[in-house]
Amino acid sequence: MIALRRRFADQFIAALVLLLLWHYFSPWAIVVQRRANSSDTASNVTITDGVSTPTDPVESPQETSRGSDNIEQKLGDSEEAFLSLVGTASAPPSISRDDAIRMIYDIEKREDWLELIERQDDHGLMALTKIVQRYIYEKQHPSNCGSQRYLILNKFPGDDAFGLGAIVQRISDYLSVAIQTNSILLYATDTSPGEHFLSEDGAGPCGRSLDCIFQELSNCSSEAQKGLKSNTQSIFSDGQLDLDVEAFLSKHKYPVPLVFEEALKKIQPDITGEMLKYWWRAQAAAYIMRFNRNTSRRLKQFRLGEGTKQLGIQWDVNGDPKEVNVPFPIPEGTISMHVRHGDKGSEMRLVPFNDYVVRAEKFSAENPLGNWKRAFLSTEDPNVIEQMKTMARITPFTYSGSNSRWTWYWTDIPRLNTGPETQLREFGNRTDLTIKWMLQLVMAIECDVFVGTRGSGWNRLIDSLRCTWLASCKQPFLEVGFENDWLGYGP
Ligand SMILES: *[C@@H]1O[C@H](CO)[C@@H](O)[C@H](O)[C@H]1NC(C)=O
Ligand SMILES: *[C@@H]1O[C@H](CO)[C@@H](O)[C@H](O)[C@H]1NC(C)=O
Ligand SMILES: *[C@@H]1O[C@H](CO)[C@@H](O)[C@H](O)[C@H]1NC(C)=O
Ligand SMILES: *[C@@H]1O[C@H](CO)[C@@H](O)[C@H](O)[C@H]1NC(C)=O
Repeated sequence: MIALRRRFADQFIAALVLLLLWHYFSPWAIVVQRRANSSDTASNVTITDGVSTPTDPVESPQETSRGSDNIEQKLGDSEEAFLSLVGTASAPPSISRDDAIRMIYDIEKREDWLELIERQDDHGLMALTKIVQRYIYEKQHPSNCGSQRYLILNKFPGDDAFGLGAIVQRISDYLSVAIQTNSILLYATDTSPGEHFLSEDGAGPCGRSLDCIFQELSNCSSEAQKGLKSNTQSIFSDGQLDLDVEAFLSKHKYPVPLVFEEALKKIQPDITGEMLKYWWRAQAAAYIMRFNRNTSRRLKQFRLGEGTKQLGIQWDVNGDPKEVNVPFPIPEGTISMHVRHGDKGSEMRLVPFNDYVVRAEKFSAENPLGNWKRAFLSTEDPNVIEQMKTMARITPFTYSGSNSRWTWYWTDIPRLNTGPETQLREFGNRTDLTIKWMLQLVMAIECDVFVGTRGSGWNRLIDSLRCTWLASCKQPFLEVGFENDWLGYGP
């Protein structure tokens, strides 16, 4: 009897310790805050769940106009005009989901991108997307090029080791500086950021720059784009501005243009610095990566199976696989899974493929009236594709809906479980391989549920583009990594 009671006491203490450990170390501890009921003097709350930053790191520094690592922050007429647009109603949506997806594959001229975004449902896009994309576009496309100041961006040191997501993220910092200094951002032409993504035979006026696959950053050009020394990261064309851009960027970790920060705070006054950064980088990526006509055409060829194969399997009730076509666009309700392996293990915990599938199974079990057992799988790890082919039915949940069988879609692109540069070297035409990767990105955003981890830059790109190019921001994103994996990501 006494022994039994002692065993109970031991178990009780063990459970208590576990509970306490959970309480102190769980990233999910949620603190509910109440408003002081006395008066309306809002208390300066500090959220203590170990996730939010207590003070806002985006707050402008004390000294503003002094020194070359600061930009004098002021809002002029064009900024005020922009701010007055915040909260005004935009036109109702005038394009279907499928037609919006098709438009990405049918880009003819640069204005098509603004049209694509403006015709979609404002509520399905990230906050302010329509007006921000137009504002950036108009800044970069003035009616007169002669009187402008240009910020020329050279290739980054160690550029060749970066993935596309990392390059775009770095360019977005410079786009922010350009907007804040009333300059137009241009790529250097001799050596250009991300040139290893382009085939060496790069001809024409775009040289070997991202201007060859994306819409040109600007419809102006400058003499200063030529002849940059390799140790110069960036220069202003007019030499008038007393600003050391690199010093500014290393001092300010979150270079969000003030005008956008002000605009967002009008509608989300308590937005954190982390969220501002994430929002800005998504807007910048949406602008920087607008495909040009050649890329869009090539993308469509690959999408429709020319030069690359789109594959699908479905399991029948007897447990036998049968090949199915991949519809264009991918049907509504398909789940996107991007499994990041490759070289990423050095930076973050890799999540096994099984965890992705279990997460998706759980979601579909919790939503039994929707048919969620269709998935598009993207990965650079060929083993993941092999694993997928064996996953006929995994039902860890006995309460799963009627359909336990998966339909899988994927693209037969060359895959090597390594970093991007090795793959670019191995697989021939760099431009074509880059476009195949971008096809993986676009097919992912053709889907409606996203399983991934924001600790990976590619997953953040998927998240960013589904919320800016397509009105899919209302759709669920199911995180399979640690919450801490993505908070405070990047430099
Ligand atoms: C909150 O902070 C602001 C600025 O830091 C200060 O002016 C204000 O008095 C504070 N309010 C309270 C209730 O502490
Ligand atoms: C650049 O494009 C804008 C908008 O498309 C247009 O209004 C402007 O005239 C163009 N500028 C030049 C110099 O061609
Ligand atoms: C697009 O392709 C055409 C024909 O191949 C070529 O002449 C043109 O320079 C390309 N445009 C860009 C921006 O690369
Ligand atoms: C590489 O691919 C691009 C884009 O599809 C194409 O324009 C170019 O001609 C290709 N280069 C070679 C050497 O095949």
